[in-house]
Amino acid sequence: MLVAKNLSKSYNDVKALSNVSLSIKEGELYGLLGPNGAGKTTTISILSSLLKPDGGEVLYQDKSLYKNTSECKKIIGVVPQEIALYEDLTAIENLKFWGTLYGIKGKQLQSKTDELLEFLGLADRKNHKIKTYSGGMKRRINIAAALLHDPKIVFMDEPTVGIDPQSRNLIFEVIEELHSRGLTMIYTTHYMEEAERLCDRIGIIDEGRIITEGSLDELKKASSVKEEIQVKFTNPQKTDLVSMNNHFNGQLSIQDNQMILSTSKTNTDLPELIQLCTNANLQLEKLDVRSLSLESIFLELTGKSLRD
Ligand SMILES: Nc1ncnc2c1ncn2[C@@H]1O[C@H](COP(=O)(O)OP(=O)(O)OP(=O)(O)O)[C@@H](O)[C@H]1O
Ligand SMILES: [Mg+2]
Repeated sequence: MLVAKNLSKSYNDVKALSNVSLSIKEGELYGLLGPNGAGKTTTISILSSLLKPDGGEVLYQDKSLYKNTSECKKIIGVVPQEIALYEDLTAIENLKFWGTLYGIKGKQLQSKTDELLEFLGLADRKNHKIKTYSGGMKRRINIAAALLHDPKIVFMDEPTVGIDPQSRNLIFEVIEELHSRGLTMIYTTHYMEEAERLCDRIGIIDEGRIITEGSLDELKKASSVKEEIQVKFTNPQKTDLVSMNNHFNGQLSIQDNQMILSTSKTNTDLPELIQLCTNANLQLEKLDVRSLSLESIFLELTGKSLRD
């Protein structure tokens, strides 16, 4: 469906992408997971032809995006990271505006906007101005706008950032429904739980490079880490946690009063960890051993933690 080869892009002297290659199959929900500034939006902007790369190639169904731009654009929908709506227009007026830009008119536009507002759970608010909407509701209208022209592939750039849990769940349900209908989607996020829950395949992007790619199972199998020991403390001391990190060779992800040790040898690391905590006078509030998550895979590959 979509193949991108060796994309590179710099903004002045900032190298945003280096040799990014991707291949997305029809009907696939592909997650592009990476921290702030990793290059997610740049990748999406290039794939949706909003931005020209310095080098590389993008093919839709074997056709070059650059030689067939208008044809390719007809099958692409984009939900941008920044909300793009007119605050003083109602939801329905906004959607009609976007629909007109796509060349949809009259009864067809009317029935499409009604259908999408229903689908996104906003039919009862359709005549209210966007400025009265919550962040999550605006996001849902943005998603509707990207679906107006029945695209075959939709890019969603961090659609759940900064919204309430109810809208977030609704957006997940919408994405799962679109997925089950066979829509191809590329979903960027820096929330690992979202990538784990939603995506068939995940590409981890960091500093403009895709550093690994595969289904969650494939990523887990490829990892040398097998388990995570999660510990919460009642009296954390940053310096003690840092010295523990040194002891475990940087396999620790530390945040506030908790840490996660990614390990392949729980049977020896667990007693050692408890001993170190006792020596440092750290009181354990909760301890949990669980199977590997994306968080640990990310830490292993990049040496960074991907939490907010
Ligand atoms: N218009 C621009 N001008 C200059 N530098 C830019 C511009 N857009 C992005 N960058 C830089 O390019 C790199 C990649 O940015 P990009 O927005 O693609 O990352 P991202 O993964 O989408 O980040 P975020 O999670 O914050 O949205 C960053 O270093 C960013 O500062
Ligand atoms: Mg971005």
